[in-house]
Amino acid sequence: MQRATHTALCSWSEFVGPAMIRQCLRCRVPKQLSSRAYSVVPTPRDSEEKDMLHRILRVDHAGEYGANRIYAGQMAVLARSRSGPLIQEMWDQEKKHLEKFNELLAENRVRPTALLPLWNIAGFVLGASTALLGKEGAMACTVAVEESISEHYNSQIRALMEKDPERYTELLNVIKEFRDDEMDHHDTGLEHDAETLPGYWLLKNAIQLGCKAAIYVSQRI
Ligand SMILES: [Fe+2]
Ligand SMILES: [Fe+2]
Repeated sequence: MQRATHTALCSWSEFVGPAMIRQCLRCRVPKQLSSRAYSVVPTPRDSEEKDMLHRILRVDHAGEYGANRIYAGQMAVLARSRSGPLIQEMWDQEKKHLEKFNELLAENRVRPTALLPLWNIAGFVLGASTALLGKEGAMACTVAVEESISEHYNSQIRALMEKDPERYTELLNVIKEFRDDEMDHHDTGLEHDAETLPGYWLLKNAIQLGCKAAIYVSQRI
Protein backbone atom coordinates (compact mmCIF):
# COMPACT_ATOMS: atom_id res chain seq x y z
CA MET A 1 0.00 0.00 0.00
CA GLN A 2 1.24 3.45 -0.93
CA ARG A 3 1.92 5.55 2.12
CA ALA A 4 0.89 9.17 2.25
CA THR A 5 3.59 11.77 2.74
CA HIS A 6 3.73 13.05 6.26
CA THR A 7 2.29 16.55 6.50
CA ALA A 8 1.16 18.95 9.16
CA LEU A 9 -2.33 17.53 8.72
CA CYS A 10 -1.16 14.13 9.85
CA SER A 11 -1.68 13.12 13.43
CA TRP A 12 0.38 11.06 15.79
CA SER A 13 -1.34 8.10 17.32
CA GLU A 14 -1.13 7.64 21.05
CA PHE A 15 -0.06 4.08 20.47
CA VAL A 16 3.33 3.32 21.89
CA GLY A 17 4.72 0.25 20.24
CA PRO A 18 7.27 -2.21 21.50
CA ALA A 19 9.99 -0.11 19.92
CA MET A 20 8.84 2.87 21.97
CA ILE A 21 7.90 4.96 18.98
CA ARG A 22 4.76 6.73 18.00
CA GLN A 23 3.51 6.43 14.47
CA CYS A 24 1.54 8.84 12.41
CA LEU A 25 -2.00 7.49 12.01
CA ARG A 26 -2.05 8.29 8.30
CA CYS A 27 1.39 7.73 6.90
CA ARG A 28 2.95 5.55 9.59
CA VAL A 29 5.95 7.82 9.90
CA PRO A 30 7.53 6.96 13.22
CA LYS A 31 8.09 9.69 15.73
CA GLN A 32 10.74 9.36 18.35
CA LEU A 33 9.21 10.07 21.68
CA SER A 34 10.37 13.37 23.05
CA SER A 35 11.87 13.81 26.48
CA ARG A 36 8.40 13.16 27.93
CA ALA A 37 8.98 9.47 27.41
CA TYR A 38 12.04 9.53 29.55
CA SER A 39 11.81 11.83 32.46
CA VAL A 40 14.86 13.01 34.33
CA VAL A 41 13.12 11.69 37.41
CA PRO A 42 13.09 7.91 37.84
CA THR A 43 9.81 6.13 38.49
CA PRO A 44 9.62 5.84 42.29
CA ARG A 45 10.19 2.34 43.67
CA ASP A 46 8.11 2.89 46.79
CA SER A 47 6.09 5.50 48.61
CA GLU A 48 9.12 6.72 50.53
CA GLU A 49 11.03 7.50 47.34
CA LYS A 50 7.93 9.02 45.80
CA ASP A 51 7.52 11.36 48.78
CA MET A 52 11.16 12.37 48.60
CA LEU A 53 11.09 13.08 44.85
CA HIS A 54 7.79 14.93 45.06
CA ARG A 55 9.10 17.08 47.90
CA ILE A 56 12.20 17.94 45.88
CA LEU A 57 10.24 18.86 42.75
CA ARG A 58 7.62 20.81 44.68
CA VAL A 59 10.03 22.95 46.65
CA ASP A 60 12.35 23.57 43.68
CA HIS A 61 9.42 24.62 41.55
CA ALA A 62 8.28 26.95 44.34
CA GLY A 63 11.77 28.43 44.60
CA GLU A 64 12.07 29.09 40.90
CA TYR A 65 8.57 30.53 40.86
CA GLY A 66 9.46 32.86 43.72
CA ALA A 67 12.73 33.86 42.04
CA ASN A 68 10.81 34.78 38.89
CA ARG A 69 8.46 36.98 40.90
CA ILE A 70 11.40 38.68 42.64
CA TYR A 71 13.03 39.55 39.32
CA ALA A 72 9.65 40.71 38.00
CA GLY A 73 9.40 43.06 40.99
CA GLN A 74 12.93 44.34 40.43
CA MET A 75 12.22 44.97 36.76
CA ALA A 76 8.99 46.82 37.59
CA VAL A 77 11.18 49.39 39.32
CA LEU A 78 14.53 49.21 37.52
CA ALA A 79 13.71 48.14 33.95
CA ARG A 80 14.67 51.54 32.56
CA SER A 81 17.73 51.99 34.72
CA ARG A 82 21.26 51.00 33.71
CA SER A 83 20.83 47.75 35.66
CA GLY A 84 17.76 46.79 33.61
CA PRO A 85 19.53 44.60 31.03
CA LEU A 86 21.57 42.82 33.71
CA ILE A 87 18.50 42.01 35.80
CA GLN A 88 16.63 40.95 32.67
CA GLU A 89 19.44 38.55 31.80
CA MET A 90 19.19 36.85 35.20
CA TRP A 91 15.41 36.80 34.97
CA ASP A 92 15.60 35.09 31.58
CA GLN A 93 17.61 32.27 33.16
CA GLU A 94 15.05 32.00 35.96
CA LYS A 95 12.33 31.66 33.34
CA LYS A 96 14.14 28.65 31.92
CA HIS A 97 14.53 27.13 35.38
CA LEU A 98 10.85 27.55 36.08
CA GLU A 99 9.88 26.15 32.71
CA LYS A 100 11.90 23.02 33.45
CA PHE A 101 10.27 22.49 36.83
CA ASN A 102 6.83 23.15 35.35
CA GLU A 103 7.59 20.37 32.91
CA LEU A 104 8.86 18.03 35.63
CA LEU A 105 5.82 18.63 37.84
CA ALA A 106 3.50 17.80 34.96
CA GLU A 107 5.43 14.73 33.86
CA ASN A 108 5.59 13.32 37.35
CA ARG A 109 2.10 14.39 38.36
CA VAL A 110 3.32 16.40 41.29
CA ARG A 111 1.04 19.15 42.52
CA PRO A 112 2.70 22.51 43.09
CA THR A 113 2.78 23.95 46.57
CA ALA A 114 -0.55 25.39 47.71
CA LEU A 115 1.39 28.53 48.63
CA LEU A 116 2.07 29.72 45.06
CA PRO A 117 -0.40 32.64 45.41
CA LEU A 118 1.54 33.77 48.47
CA TRP A 119 4.94 33.45 46.75
CA ASN A 120 3.47 35.32 43.80
CA ILE A 121 2.83 38.39 45.93
CA ALA A 122 5.67 38.02 48.44
CA GLY A 123 8.26 37.55 45.69
CA PHE A 124 7.11 40.58 43.73
CA VAL A 125 6.92 42.78 46.83
CA LEU A 126 10.39 41.69 47.94
CA GLY A 127 11.86 42.37 44.51
CA ALA A 128 10.16 45.73 44.05
CA SER A 129 10.74 47.01 47.58
CA THR A 130 14.45 46.22 47.58
CA ALA A 131 14.76 47.72 44.09
CA LEU A 132 13.23 50.92 45.46
CA LEU A 133 16.36 51.21 47.61
CA GLY A 134 18.24 51.48 44.32
CA LYS A 135 20.38 49.14 42.29
CA GLU A 136 22.37 48.20 45.41
CA GLY A 137 19.16 47.14 47.17
CA ALA A 138 18.14 44.93 44.27
CA MET A 139 21.61 43.39 44.16
CA ALA A 140 21.62 42.81 47.93
CA CYS A 141 18.31 40.98 47.55
CA THR A 142 19.76 38.94 44.70
CA VAL A 143 22.83 37.97 46.74
CA ALA A 144 20.69 36.91 49.71
CA VAL A 145 18.16 34.92 47.71
CA GLU A 146 20.63 33.28 45.33
CA GLU A 147 22.90 32.24 48.19
CA SER A 148 19.93 30.60 49.90
CA ILE A 149 18.84 28.84 46.71
CA SER A 150 22.40 27.66 45.96
CA GLU A 151 22.72 26.25 49.48
CA HIS A 152 19.35 24.58 49.15
CA TYR A 153 20.34 23.00 45.83
CA ASN A 154 23.66 21.91 47.33
CA SER A 155 21.92 20.11 50.17
CA GLN A 156 19.66 18.33 47.67
CA ILE A 157 22.70 17.34 45.62
CA ARG A 158 24.38 15.92 48.74
CA ALA A 159 21.26 13.99 49.73
CA LEU A 160 20.76 12.48 46.26
CA MET A 161 24.45 11.62 45.95
CA GLU A 162 24.32 9.82 49.28
CA LYS A 163 21.25 7.86 48.27
CA ASP A 164 22.12 6.71 44.76
CA PRO A 165 24.12 8.93 42.41
CA GLU A 166 23.54 6.68 39.41
CA ARG A 167 19.81 6.42 39.81
CA TYR A 168 19.47 10.18 40.09
CA THR A 169 22.11 11.20 37.52
CA GLU A 170 19.68 13.10 35.28
CA LEU A 171 17.98 14.91 38.11
CA LEU A 172 21.36 15.74 39.63
CA ASN A 173 22.50 17.22 36.32
CA VAL A 174 19.49 19.54 36.22
CA ILE A 175 19.95 20.64 39.82
CA LYS A 176 23.71 21.15 39.39
CA GLU A 177 23.21 23.23 36.26
CA PHE A 178 20.67 25.44 38.00
CA ARG A 179 22.84 25.68 41.12
CA ASP A 180 25.67 27.00 38.94
CA ASP A 181 23.37 29.63 37.42
CA GLU A 182 22.22 30.71 40.89
CA MET A 183 25.84 31.05 42.00
CA ASP A 184 26.53 33.22 38.96
CA HIS A 185 23.58 35.43 39.92
CA HIS A 186 24.93 35.64 43.47
CA ASP A 187 28.35 36.67 42.19
CA THR A 188 26.79 39.20 39.82
CA GLY A 189 25.04 40.80 42.79
CA LEU A 190 28.33 41.09 44.67
CA GLU A 191 30.11 42.50 41.62
CA HIS A 192 27.42 45.15 41.33
CA ASP A 193 27.82 46.71 44.75
CA ALA A 194 25.33 44.73 46.85
CA GLU A 195 27.55 45.09 49.90
CA THR A 196 27.63 48.88 49.66
CA LEU A 197 23.96 49.10 50.61
CA PRO A 198 23.58 50.59 54.10
CA GLY A 199 22.22 47.85 56.35
CA TYR A 200 23.31 45.17 53.89
CA TRP A 201 23.93 42.45 56.49
CA LEU A 202 20.69 43.12 58.28
CA LEU A 203 18.70 42.98 55.05
CA LYS A 204 20.55 39.91 53.84
CA ASN A 205 19.92 38.00 57.07
CA ALA A 206 16.26 38.98 57.12
CA ILE A 207 15.73 37.84 53.53
CA GLN A 208 17.57 34.59 54.14
CA LEU A 209 15.44 33.88 57.19
CA GLY A 210 12.40 34.34 54.96
CA CYS A 211 13.89 32.05 52.30
CA LYS A 212 14.49 29.31 54.88
CA ALA A 213 10.91 29.56 56.10
CA ALA A 214 9.63 29.51 52.51
CA ILE A 215 11.68 26.41 51.70
CA TYR A 216 10.48 24.67 54.86
CA VAL A 217 6.80 25.21 54.22
CA SER A 218 6.90 24.73 50.44
CA GLN A 219 8.20 21.19 50.93
CA ARG A 220 5.27 20.36 53.15
CA ILE A 221 2.21 22.27 51.99
FE1 LIG B 1 16.67 29.71 39.37
FE1 LIG C 1 18.85 32.66 40.25
